[in-house]
Amino acid sequence: MSRALSSSSSPRCLDLRSPKYSLAAPICRASRFRISASRKIQVASTVDRRCFASAPPESFSVVNVDLGDRSYPIYIGSGLLDNSDLIRKHVPGRTALVVTNETIAPLYLERTVAALESSGELRVEVVILPDGEQHKNIDVLMRIFDKALEAQLDRQTTFVALGGGVIGDMTGFAAASYQRGVHFVQIPTTVMSMVDSSVGGKTGVNHPAGKNMIGAFYQPRCVLVDIDTLETLPDREFSSGLAEVVKYGLIRDDEFFEWQEANVEKLMAREAATLIHAIEKSCINKAEVVALDEREGGVRATLNLGHTFGHAIETGVGYGEWLHGEAVSVGIIMAAFMSERLGWIDQSIFNRTKTLLEKCRLPVQVPSLMTKQLFMNLMAIDKKSDNGQVRLILLRGELGGCVFTGEFDRLKLEETLDNYVTSG
Ligand SMILES: NC(=O)c1ccc[n+]([C@@H]2O[C@H](COP(=O)([O-])OP(=O)(O)OC[C@H]3O[C@@H](n4cnc5c(N)ncnc54)[C@H](O)[C@@H]3O)[C@@H](O)[C@H]2O)c1
Ligand SMILES: [Zn+2]
Repeated sequence: MSRALSSSSSPRCLDLRSPKYSLAAPICRASRFRISASRKIQVASTVDRRCFASAPPESFSVVNVDLGDRSYPIYIGSGLLDNSDLIRKHVPGRTALVVTNETIAPLYLERTVAALESSGELRVEVVILPDGEQHKNIDVLMRIFDKALEAQLDRQTTFVALGGGVIGDMTGFAAASYQRGVHFVQIPTTVMSMVDSSVGGKTGVNHPAGKNMIGAFYQPRCVLVDIDTLETLPDREFSSGLAEVVKYGLIRDDEFFEWQEANVEKLMAREAATLIHAIEKSCINKAEVVALDEREGGVRATLNLGHTFGHAIETGVGYGEWLHGEAVSVGIIMAAFMSERLGWIDQSIFNRTKTLLEKCRLPVQVPSLMTKQLFMNLMAIDKKSDNGQVRLILLRGELGGCVFTGEFDRLKLEETLDNYVTSG
């Protein structure tokens, strides 16, 4: 695997050249959200310009998240963890707090701290949290504040998240609330966090009653994706992140879906150029959606394809039992099944989705613990529900099209649950 990763080369920027011209169409197709032509071009050219002009293609590429004065770059490449200039550029104060967990600390903490300390002008503090989704809660969050206060970090400090989505979400929420907001940098180390959670500013922790129920929108100053860190990522975690990659293709980017179908073996082999392309395309898709709808008033909700079913599974079986992407994978297949039963998509889209998810070694069956009633109860408290009425992202029309709606035949939801739930 490491050989595949170290063979990273630069044709990735070329890979992006042709998709540049196709960026606009999938945005519109996503769920009947209307976007003016000029806005489409602006988004596309932002991505393109950053990739070709700002980033030397031989070292890394950049996807810009376009949010006015809160815009920020996502750097993607190999060896970036040791690129002290890159990270220091985004750490303005005299102190930084690196937040990581006990699994990642022995692997990447020393290099991260060394890169931050290289100028000699920064005092770097560290807090190491326990590992796991079950620790993504208020009690563990307090340890970040305890450390920050004990080290007397002021409002100019920067919180650096080194880890997967759990560390990113918690550190981001801590950065949003510590002294009413301090600087924040993300160094994602899982596929899930590289393609999704570190981009877009959703931060938070879980509550026993529901996932991510307590949180804030808070954007980082930059995201640094070093694909070399994926060398140590366990297979199950690797697959989990791919559920979100498949999601982007389904909701808005048919070309990307087809590219995944054609390249899934290379992706699973962690071939470096394939990985970089998948991460870049995912970040471009997410950056476009976030730029259009930062606070999830409309199109951003489509990023939650499969998540209403998925969150119910994660909560239902207990945090940490099923990985987020595994639950989302089952959620995606349930949403595709329901869409097909509603007559909104052709059966071939359902079949292709199932095949791709299976090739990513992701589950497509509901865990036996889940009952229909448990699903119903947990789905009703989903953040996308409207007065307790479940709203879902469902596929509609050609590949790459979806809708976010509460207007569907409820019997089809029942039928979907009956089809997938195996226990009483
Ligand atoms: N904020 C968002 O928009 C958003 C989007 C998607 C998911 N999420 C959240 O992200 C979380 C899931 O993220 P995740 O899948 O990254 O899980 P995670 O953060 O739990 O990381 C997965 C596991 O891999 C380990 N790990 C991380 N990087 C590693 C590496 N390079 N080598 C070896 N081990 C490594 C971690 O310690 C952990 O055990 C969920 O809490 C989910 O709600 C948030
Ligand atoms: Zn997700």
